[in-house]
Amino acid sequence: MENENIVRPELEDEQEENLETSLRPKSLKDYIGQTKVKESMKIYIEAAKKRKEALDHCLFYGPPGLGKTTISGIIANEMHSKIKITSGPAIEKPGDLAGLLTNLEEYDVLFIDEIHRLSKTVEEILYPALEDYVLDITIGKGPEAKSIRLDLPKFTLIGATTKAGALTTPLRDRFGIVQKLELYSVEDLSTIVKRSSKILKTPIDDESCKEIARRSRGTPRIANRLLKRVRDYALVLGDGKINLKITKHALNQLEIDEIGLDETDRKMLSMMIVQYSGRPVGIEALASSLGEEIDTIEDVYEPYLLQIGFIARTPRGRQVLPPAYEHLGFELK
Ligand code: ADE
Repeated sequence: MENENIVRPELEDEQEENLETSLRPKSLKDYIGQTKVKESMKIYIEAAKKRKEALDHCLFYGPPGLGKTTISGIIANEMHSKIKITSGPAIEKPGDLAGLLTNLEEYDVLFIDEIHRLSKTVEEILYPALEDYVLDITIGKGPEAKSIRLDLPKFTLIGATTKAGALTTPLRDRFGIVQKLELYSVEDLSTIVKRSSKILKTPIDDESCKEIARRSRGTPRIANRLLKRVRDYALVLGDGKINLKITKHALNQLEIDEIGLDETDRKMLSMMIVQYSGRPVGIEALASSLGEEIDTIEDVYEPYLLQIGFIARTPRGRQVLPPAYEHLGFELK
């Protein structure tokens, strides 16, 4: 007989995935924060519905974990249409994109994550699809080749990227709606933690919501992840209810400090202070000293450190600022 205690990692992943999905709000009214984006999207969605047209193509940009996919799902819901989710690197050939486009129905949303990573050849197929809802395909090769034009349903492309600057100008210009997602306030994150704990059926007090929020570096995905870990500690070490003592203990065990910095943040800042004596450092040098990708530093670590004024971008590189010295207990030279 098979051993029933064999761990099935794929099952755990699946559960985590389902949990993640269930924490995502399904309508604009349940979406907390990003007020400006929400208010304008509400108008554009309503206008498109009144005109019985597809919503204009949208581009959402900003650091990871702020809800680009979530908002796209909400838009599809509010438009009473379906969403197909893919990513720039997953669309390898023009044929892959042609397949996706020809399978869409009227008013559907096609969501392309990391849209800055589309290849040039794929991007070129996309232009007429976005502009005129047509697909130009070539059949055959050489002098026998024929070009045919297929009509596509009126759809909405939603592109998401952490790097708006990496998009080519012709692609960026084809988005009628461009929205920047900002890091969340502690108040908004606290409300998100409260909402998520209700869904997870875990009692939590307001102080603990705020504590998790303060340590989530402006990012709902991090807040929800920390909440799940604190909930584990509460279940094993306590009675399952989350209080401030359990919250602080769990977050300290995770080595997340009072303001949400993790080991890599602290290592990066210390390095800038000690090794580079507080002088500007090039991103390449920083990445190689830390053993991280440049993209990871730019997309994951920098936005929050810039926001809280611990580092600045200068023409000569990244510069560590006085509040970082103070937080890490270094004397300012
Ligand atoms: N869960 C993750 N992000 C959220 C948001 N912005 N509003 C409500 N719940 C969320």
